[in-house]
Amino acid sequence: MEIINRRQRMFSIARKLRREAKTVGFVPTMGALHEGHLALVKECRARCDVVIVSIFVNQTQFNDQKDLAAYPRDLTADAALLAEYEADYVYAPEVSEIYPDDFSTYVDVEGLTDRMEGSSRPGHFRGVATIVTILFNTVRPDLAFFGQKDAQQVAVVKRLTRDLGFETEIVVVPTVREPSGLALSSRNTRLSVQDREKAAVVINALREAKTAFKKGERNAADLTNIVESRLRDEPLAEIDYISVVDRDSLQPIEKIGDNETLICAAVTFSGVRLIDNVILNRKQ
Ligand code: PAF
Repeated sequence: MEIINRRQRMFSIARKLRREAKTVGFVPTMGALHEGHLALVKECRARCDVVIVSIFVNQTQFNDQKDLAAYPRDLTADAALLAEYEADYVYAPEVSEIYPDDFSTYVDVEGLTDRMEGSSRPGHFRGVATIVTILFNTVRPDLAFFGQKDAQQVAVVKRLTRDLGFETEIVVVPTVREPSGLALSSRNTRLSVQDREKAAVVINALREAKTAFKKGERNAADLTNIVESRLRDEPLAEIDYISVVDRDSLQPIEKIGDNETLICAAVTFSGVRLIDNVILNRKQ
Protein backbone atom coordinates (compact mmCIF):
# COMPACT_ATOMS: atom_id res chain seq x y z
CA MET A 1 0.00 0.00 0.00
CA GLU A 2 1.35 3.41 -0.95
CA ILE A 3 0.50 6.67 0.85
CA ILE A 4 0.35 9.59 -1.57
CA ASN A 5 0.54 13.22 -0.45
CA ARG A 6 0.95 15.00 -3.77
CA ARG A 7 -1.90 15.56 -6.19
CA GLN A 8 0.48 15.23 -9.16
CA ARG A 9 1.50 11.72 -8.03
CA MET A 10 -2.17 10.73 -7.58
CA PHE A 11 -2.93 12.04 -11.10
CA SER A 12 -0.15 10.01 -12.66
CA ILE A 13 -1.08 6.79 -10.84
CA ALA A 14 -4.73 7.25 -11.83
CA ARG A 15 -3.66 7.83 -15.46
CA LYS A 16 -1.52 4.66 -15.41
CA LEU A 17 -4.39 2.60 -13.93
CA ARG A 18 -6.74 3.83 -16.68
CA ARG A 19 -4.18 2.90 -19.35
CA GLU A 20 -3.98 -0.60 -17.82
CA ALA A 21 -7.82 -0.81 -17.97
CA LYS A 22 -8.04 -1.49 -14.22
CA THR A 23 -11.38 -0.97 -12.46
CA VAL A 24 -10.61 1.79 -9.99
CA GLY A 25 -12.66 1.97 -6.79
CA PHE A 26 -12.58 5.01 -4.55
CA VAL A 27 -13.62 5.59 -0.95
CA PRO A 28 -13.43 9.26 0.12
CA THR A 29 -13.08 9.78 3.89
CA MET A 30 -11.98 12.34 6.43
CA GLY A 31 -10.08 9.68 8.41
CA ALA A 32 -10.85 8.66 12.01
CA LEU A 33 -11.93 5.41 10.40
CA HIS A 34 -14.53 3.16 12.01
CA GLU A 35 -16.42 0.03 10.95
CA GLY A 36 -18.73 2.14 8.78
CA HIS A 37 -15.81 3.32 6.62
CA LEU A 38 -14.29 -0.16 6.61
CA ALA A 39 -17.54 -1.61 5.22
CA LEU A 40 -17.12 0.79 2.28
CA VAL A 41 -13.51 -0.31 1.79
CA LYS A 42 -14.52 -3.97 1.98
CA GLU A 43 -17.21 -3.50 -0.66
CA CYS A 44 -14.76 -1.56 -2.83
CA ARG A 45 -12.15 -4.35 -2.47
CA ALA A 46 -14.73 -6.96 -3.49
CA ARG A 47 -15.79 -5.06 -6.62
CA CYS A 48 -12.67 -3.34 -7.95
CA ASP A 49 -9.14 -4.18 -9.15
CA VAL A 50 -7.66 -1.21 -7.35
CA VAL A 51 -8.80 0.40 -4.09
CA ILE A 52 -7.97 4.05 -3.45
CA VAL A 53 -9.00 5.64 -0.14
CA SER A 54 -8.65 9.37 0.45
CA ILE A 55 -8.12 10.85 3.89
CA PHE A 56 -8.63 14.59 3.96
CA VAL A 57 -10.28 16.64 6.71
CA ASN A 58 -12.18 18.98 4.44
CA GLN A 59 -12.25 22.42 6.03
CA THR A 60 -14.87 23.85 3.65
CA GLN A 61 -17.61 21.50 4.90
CA PHE A 62 -17.27 22.57 8.55
CA ASN A 63 -19.36 25.54 9.60
CA ASP A 64 -17.95 25.47 13.11
CA GLN A 65 -14.20 26.13 13.29
CA LYS A 66 -14.08 24.48 16.74
CA ASP A 67 -15.44 21.24 15.20
CA LEU A 68 -12.75 21.42 12.51
CA ALA A 69 -9.98 21.96 15.07
CA ALA A 70 -11.30 19.11 17.27
CA TYR A 71 -11.70 16.63 14.40
CA PRO A 72 -9.57 13.54 15.25
CA ARG A 73 -6.54 13.05 12.98
CA ASP A 74 -4.40 9.90 13.14
CA LEU A 75 -3.03 9.00 9.72
CA THR A 76 -0.78 6.26 11.11
CA ALA A 77 -3.67 4.38 12.76
CA ASP A 78 -5.93 4.88 9.73
CA ALA A 79 -3.23 3.69 7.33
CA ALA A 80 -2.65 0.56 9.45
CA LEU A 81 -6.36 -0.29 9.25
CA LEU A 82 -6.46 0.34 5.51
CA ALA A 83 -3.44 -1.93 4.97
CA GLU A 84 -5.34 -4.64 6.86
CA TYR A 85 -8.33 -4.13 4.55
CA GLU A 86 -6.03 -4.37 1.52
CA ALA A 87 -6.33 -0.85 0.16
CA ASP A 88 -3.79 -0.18 -2.61
CA TYR A 89 -3.40 3.58 -2.25
CA VAL A 90 -4.14 6.11 0.48
CA TYR A 91 -4.43 9.63 -0.91
CA ALA A 92 -3.82 12.05 1.96
CA PRO A 93 -3.08 15.44 0.41
CA GLU A 94 -1.84 18.47 2.33
CA VAL A 95 -4.41 21.26 2.77
CA SER A 96 -2.32 23.56 0.54
CA GLU A 97 -2.46 21.02 -2.31
CA ILE A 98 -6.26 21.18 -2.31
CA TYR A 99 -6.94 24.72 -1.12
CA PRO A 100 -4.18 27.13 -2.12
CA ASP A 101 -4.45 30.58 -0.49
CA ASP A 102 -6.27 32.08 -3.48
CA PHE A 103 -8.67 29.12 -3.96
CA SER A 104 -11.97 30.53 -5.24
CA THR A 105 -13.98 27.85 -7.08
CA TYR A 106 -16.87 26.05 -5.37
CA VAL A 107 -19.53 23.57 -6.46
CA ASP A 108 -23.11 24.31 -5.42
CA VAL A 109 -25.72 21.60 -5.94
CA GLU A 110 -28.92 23.61 -5.95
CA GLY A 111 -32.26 22.38 -4.67
CA LEU A 112 -30.98 19.36 -2.72
CA THR A 113 -28.93 21.20 -0.17
CA ASP A 114 -31.12 23.81 1.48
CA ARG A 115 -33.28 21.49 3.62
CA MET A 116 -32.58 18.92 6.39
CA GLU A 117 -28.81 18.90 7.08
CA GLY A 118 -28.42 21.95 4.82
CA SER A 119 -30.56 24.16 7.05
CA SER A 120 -28.70 23.37 10.27
CA ARG A 121 -25.28 23.29 8.59
CA PRO A 122 -25.21 26.16 6.07
CA GLY A 123 -22.45 25.75 3.49
CA HIS A 124 -21.79 22.12 4.48
CA PHE A 125 -22.88 20.57 1.18
CA ARG A 126 -21.12 23.23 -0.86
CA GLY A 127 -17.93 22.08 0.89
CA VAL A 128 -18.75 18.39 0.34
CA ALA A 129 -19.63 18.92 -3.34
CA THR A 130 -16.45 20.94 -3.90
CA ILE A 131 -14.08 18.40 -2.36
CA VAL A 132 -15.82 15.41 -3.98
CA THR A 133 -15.51 17.14 -7.38
CA ILE A 134 -11.82 17.85 -6.80
CA LEU A 135 -11.15 14.26 -5.67
CA PHE A 136 -13.16 12.67 -8.50
CA ASN A 137 -11.30 14.82 -10.99
CA THR A 138 -7.96 13.61 -9.62
CA VAL A 139 -8.75 9.92 -9.07
CA ARG A 140 -11.30 9.48 -11.93
CA PRO A 141 -12.77 6.39 -10.24
CA ASP A 142 -15.00 3.88 -12.04
CA LEU A 143 -16.88 3.30 -8.79
CA ALA A 144 -17.09 5.44 -5.65
CA PHE A 145 -18.52 4.21 -2.36
CA PHE A 146 -20.69 6.16 0.10
CA GLY A 147 -22.74 5.16 3.16
CA GLN A 148 -26.54 5.23 3.23
CA LYS A 149 -26.45 6.89 6.67
CA ASP A 150 -25.56 10.17 4.97
CA ALA A 151 -28.53 9.95 2.61
CA GLN A 152 -28.50 13.64 1.72
CA GLN A 153 -24.78 13.50 0.90
CA VAL A 154 -25.48 10.50 -1.34
CA ALA A 155 -28.19 12.43 -3.25
CA VAL A 156 -25.88 15.45 -3.62
CA VAL A 157 -22.96 13.34 -4.86
CA LYS A 158 -25.17 11.43 -7.32
CA ARG A 159 -26.52 14.70 -8.71
CA LEU A 160 -23.11 16.34 -9.12
CA THR A 161 -21.73 13.18 -10.74
CA ARG A 162 -24.51 13.28 -13.33
CA ASP A 163 -24.53 17.05 -13.82
CA LEU A 164 -20.75 17.42 -14.17
CA GLY A 165 -20.48 14.31 -16.36
CA PHE A 166 -18.17 12.14 -14.27
CA GLU A 167 -17.96 8.55 -15.52
CA THR A 168 -18.28 7.25 -11.96
CA GLU A 169 -20.89 4.87 -10.60
CA ILE A 170 -21.97 5.83 -7.08
CA VAL A 171 -22.32 2.71 -4.94
CA VAL A 172 -24.39 3.13 -1.77
CA VAL A 173 -23.50 0.78 1.08
CA PRO A 174 -26.02 -0.02 3.86
CA THR A 175 -25.55 1.68 7.22
CA VAL A 176 -23.40 -0.24 9.69
CA ARG A 177 -24.93 -0.33 13.18
CA GLU A 178 -23.92 -1.01 16.77
CA PRO A 179 -25.65 -4.05 18.34
CA SER A 180 -28.27 -1.64 19.77
CA GLY A 181 -29.11 -0.50 16.23
CA LEU A 182 -27.44 2.92 16.59
CA ALA A 183 -25.85 3.92 13.28
CA LEU A 184 -22.04 4.06 13.46
CA SER A 185 -20.65 7.57 13.37
CA SER A 186 -17.45 9.19 14.57
CA ARG A 187 -19.74 11.34 16.75
CA ASN A 188 -20.87 8.30 18.79
CA THR A 189 -17.60 8.44 20.75
CA ARG A 190 -18.78 11.80 22.16
CA LEU A 191 -21.80 10.09 23.78
CA SER A 192 -21.68 8.55 27.26
CA VAL A 193 -22.30 4.80 27.43
CA GLN A 194 -25.85 5.47 28.73
CA ASP A 195 -26.61 8.07 26.04
CA ARG A 196 -25.33 5.70 23.40
CA GLU A 197 -27.86 3.06 24.47
CA LYS A 198 -30.64 5.67 24.60
CA ALA A 199 -29.75 7.01 21.15
CA ALA A 200 -30.89 3.69 19.64
CA VAL A 201 -34.37 5.19 20.01
CA VAL A 202 -33.73 6.99 16.69
CA ILE A 203 -33.51 3.83 14.59
CA ASN A 204 -36.24 2.15 16.65
CA ALA A 205 -38.58 5.07 15.93
CA LEU A 206 -37.75 5.00 12.21
CA ARG A 207 -38.27 1.24 12.11
CA GLU A 208 -41.69 1.65 13.75
CA ALA A 209 -42.63 3.95 10.89
CA LYS A 210 -41.37 1.38 8.39
CA THR A 211 -43.50 -1.31 10.05
CA ALA A 212 -46.56 0.95 9.72
CA PHE A 213 -45.63 1.55 6.06
CA LYS A 214 -45.44 -2.21 5.48
CA LYS A 215 -48.90 -2.56 7.01
CA GLY A 216 -50.26 -0.06 4.48
CA GLU A 217 -49.73 3.44 5.92
CA ARG A 218 -48.89 5.78 3.01
CA ASN A 219 -49.47 9.17 4.62
CA ALA A 220 -46.17 10.94 5.38
CA ALA A 221 -47.64 13.06 8.20
CA ASP A 222 -48.88 9.93 9.98
CA LEU A 223 -45.51 8.20 9.57
CA THR A 224 -43.79 11.33 10.89
CA ASN A 225 -46.10 11.32 13.92
CA ILE A 226 -45.15 7.72 14.70
CA VAL A 227 -41.46 8.65 14.75
CA GLU A 228 -42.09 11.81 16.72
CA SER A 229 -44.15 10.18 19.45
CA ARG A 230 -41.61 7.37 19.88
CA LEU A 231 -38.78 9.94 20.16
CA ARG A 232 -40.79 11.99 22.67
CA ASP A 233 -40.74 8.95 24.99
CA GLU A 234 -37.00 9.54 25.42
CA PRO A 235 -36.49 12.73 27.47
CA LEU A 236 -32.87 13.12 26.28
CA ALA A 237 -33.82 13.26 22.60
CA GLU A 238 -34.09 16.78 21.12
CA ILE A 239 -35.66 16.51 17.67
CA ASP A 240 -34.20 18.69 14.93
CA TYR A 241 -36.25 17.29 12.03
CA ILE A 242 -38.17 14.26 10.84
CA SER A 243 -38.68 14.29 7.07
CA VAL A 244 -40.27 11.99 4.52
CA VAL A 245 -38.53 12.71 1.21
CA ASP A 246 -37.94 11.35 -2.27
CA ARG A 247 -34.62 9.44 -2.19
CA ASP A 248 -33.17 11.21 -5.26
CA SER A 249 -34.66 14.69 -5.28
CA LEU A 250 -35.02 14.97 -1.48
CA GLN A 251 -38.29 16.77 -2.05
CA PRO A 252 -40.85 16.30 0.76
CA ILE A 253 -43.54 13.73 0.02
CA GLU A 254 -47.10 13.76 1.32
CA LYS A 255 -48.38 10.42 -0.01
CA ILE A 256 -45.86 7.68 -0.65
CA GLY A 257 -46.09 6.25 -4.14
CA ASP A 258 -43.70 4.25 -6.32
CA ASN A 259 -40.60 6.43 -6.04
CA GLU A 260 -38.08 5.32 -3.45
CA THR A 261 -38.81 7.27 -0.28
CA LEU A 262 -36.77 7.89 2.85
CA ILE A 263 -37.84 8.76 6.33
CA CYS A 264 -34.97 10.72 7.88
CA ALA A 265 -34.35 12.13 11.33
CA ALA A 266 -31.82 14.36 13.05
CA VAL A 267 -31.84 14.22 16.84
CA THR A 268 -29.51 15.71 19.44
CA PHE A 269 -28.48 13.78 22.59
CA SER A 270 -26.55 15.75 25.23
CA GLY A 271 -25.28 18.15 22.55
CA VAL A 272 -24.34 15.42 20.05
CA ARG A 273 -26.35 15.63 16.83
CA LEU A 274 -27.12 12.26 15.22
CA ILE A 275 -28.75 11.51 11.87
CA ASP A 276 -30.28 8.33 10.52
CA ASN A 277 -32.78 7.19 7.89
CA VAL A 278 -34.59 4.16 6.53
CA ILE A 279 -35.75 3.47 2.99
CA LEU A 280 -39.47 2.79 3.16
CA ASN A 281 -39.94 1.20 -0.25
CA ARG A 282 -36.64 -0.01 -1.67
CA LYS A 283 -36.78 -1.00 -5.34
CA GLN A 284 -34.97 -4.24 -6.19
O1 PAF B 1 -18.60 11.56 4.37
C1 PAF B 1 -17.48 12.09 4.55
O2 PAF B 1 -16.63 11.60 5.28
C2 PAF B 1 -17.15 13.41 3.85
O3 PAF B 1 -18.28 14.22 3.76
C3 PAF B 1 -16.49 13.21 2.46
C4 PAF B 1 -17.43 12.54 1.48
C5 PAF B 1 -15.23 12.39 2.61
C6 PAF B 1 -16.11 14.56 1.87
O4 PAF B 1 -15.20 15.23 2.69
